[in-house]
Amino acid sequence: MAELVVAFDVPTGREALAVAARLPALKWAKLGSMLYVREGPALVREFQARGVRVFLDLKWHDIPSVVAGAVAAARELGAAMATVHCLGGRAMLAAATAAAGDLALVGVTVLTSHDADAFEQIVGRGVPDVGFEAERLARVAMQAGLRGVVASGRELALLRAALGPDPWMVVPGVRAPEDAPGDQARTVTPRDAVRCGATHLVVGRPITLAKDPAGVYQRLMETL
Ligand code: C5P
Repeated sequence: MAELVVAFDVPTGREALAVAARLPALKWAKLGSMLYVREGPALVREFQARGVRVFLDLKWHDIPSVVAGAVAAARELGAAMATVHCLGGRAMLAAATAAAGDLALVGVTVLTSHDADAFEQIVGRGVPDVGFEAERLARVAMQAGLRGVVASGRELALLRAALGPDPWMVVPGVRAPEDAPGDQARTVTPRDAVRCGATHLVVGRPITLAKDPAGVYQRLMETL
């Protein structure tokens, strides 16, 4: 069964914990840069004390020794999952894997904010197909020993077919048909995400902004 990860993109730790308190079955909390920069390791420990696994989504991309050090710190903090950028390259990904222990590292391939034009400017060559680039980077991540990748709904089926059954596929931009898309352009329904091979569904605002977060969470769990 796919797992449900709640993205706590709220301004303060106090608000994050208030939403979490309304989700009694919460298993996974994703903390991104905004909240982590403000609240730091203390908030990770608060979630852990409530029996919640923490996904630290800080998307590291730096020289290998620095990323390895960050990964080691996340492991010592007890984070269960963390992100690195596949564009950091083989040496960085291998150093990250070596430092990870039982922390599950997943690789960001092509940011969903990048289209072919933006990616062409970065890599300095023609990019006829962003899906192909995502698959190429995902293969680098797998060769370096990462546990999986972060994939948009658009690339999910392609990556699952290319990588086989084992890698984790962590999918953001999940929306039930009745949910507002917000600023997500490439959404996928929970049912389709699971059908295409998602192992972890990341859902933020449809839960954190809901009048009844527990009800939305419960309905998503039933879909899974
Ligand atoms: O609120 P919403 O459900 O759109 O939140 C999606 C979460 O997934 C956010 O935390 C966002 O940072 C993250 N994410 C994303 N697209 C990616 C990678 C991560 O939306 N490619």
